[in-house]
Amino acid sequence: MTQTILVTGGAGYIGSHTVLALLERGDDVVVVDNLSNSSKKSLETVERLSGKSVVFVEADLTEAGSLDEVFTKFPITSVIHFAGLKAVGESVEEPVRYYRTNLMSTLNLMAAMAAAGVWDLVFSSSATVYGDPETLPIPEDAPLRTTNPYGATKLMIEDICREVAKSDSRWQITLLRYFNPVGAHESGDMGEDPLGIPNNLVPFVMQVAVGRREKVNVFGNNYDTADGTGVRDYIHVVDLAAGHLAALDNLIAGCRAINLGTGNGASVLDVIATTAAVSGVKINYEIADRRAGDIATSLADPSRAHAELDWRADRNLETMLTDSWRWQSRHPNGYD
Ligand code: NAD
Ligand code: WQD
Repeated sequence: MTQTILVTGGAGYIGSHTVLALLERGDDVVVVDNLSNSSKKSLETVERLSGKSVVFVEADLTEAGSLDEVFTKFPITSVIHFAGLKAVGESVEEPVRYYRTNLMSTLNLMAAMAAAGVWDLVFSSSATVYGDPETLPIPEDAPLRTTNPYGATKLMIEDICREVAKSDSRWQITLLRYFNPVGAHESGDMGEDPLGIPNNLVPFVMQVAVGRREKVNVFGNNYDTADGTGVRDYIHVVDLAAGHLAALDNLIAGCRAINLGTGNGASVLDVIATTAAVSGVKINYEIADRRAGDIATSLADPSRAHAELDWRADRNLETMLTDSWRWQSRHPNGYD
């Protein structure tokens, strides 16, 4: 049976890869996005690659009623909720905008879902809810704490989802805690297209490789890690997209959290060296001070996703960076 999935934030980086995967397996998709951090060109590429069309509704989820028509017009069966603001540093500068956007969007969405009798929800949470972890790799039942407004919005939304699911047993909610999404679709025509100076390591390194920036600053080389630089669990965005399909297919009553990561760590210097190897370009870098709020190591325990979603990430760092490089070198200025 064909399902119709509402994907909020579906024009964005992770959303567009997930929309493509949904269309490729035969689902119908309605995307709601206000294009505040994305371009409609991502969805045009999705349509070209899949040979199918996507319904696109340009709307701001923070506006009450923005979704009423969507739920009456289309036979939505479930929702994947990506829409929101995601830059940690910006959230410290503009906390009100972050709380307002991320919380209001989710509250409006959940009210519209309940009014329409749609109870199946997959939400984009983040490993940021673990703060500086005590246990590595990090299991889902690790203590939750956050150190910035962005992370606080994710934890608050998780708490809201847990309360809402307790209030009405029809809700089936999965909170997906992503580790560090990187990579791009293997076509080289879809990928991450950050506005302005990238905050995240991989987009920054790719812009150095393609000649848009001179060098990357390595934020600290005196962490308690093998080479002293920060270690992260990078996960290919196409594996992440597949994780959303597995989450949709395995929703159960109530609200549960599931890590999406590989369980493997890579340091900043590993990322730089692997990018140089796959691109053939020397990556200039300089050791700089630690970035405020950073932790030494973040690593997922992905065993719950293996057991409960029958999903695992199978693309390694080299594939992630090869695919990021294909996207970056074919589209040095992103979708524009
Ligand atoms: P993205 O910015 O590319 O995508 C988010 C999309 O939401 C954008 O297309 C944006 O235009 C849209 N949007 C923002 N505010 C909106 C609003 N008020 N109404 C409608 N649409 C709105 O980001 P992404 O990397 O694809 O992340 C998707 C989700 O995953 C976010 O919720 C993010 O917090 C979460 N997440 C991302 C990462 C990461 O490193 N990329 C890690 C963990 C969690
Ligand atoms: C990775 C490593 C940096 C840039 C962030 C959010 C997190 C989640 C994913 C949304 C760290 C180092 C970085 C640079 C560097 N997003 N680095 N030079 O900080 O692990 O996670 O994105 O939920 O919430 O905090 O990712 O890519 O910024 O950094 O040395 O120019 O690279 O110190 O060790 P991070 P990142």
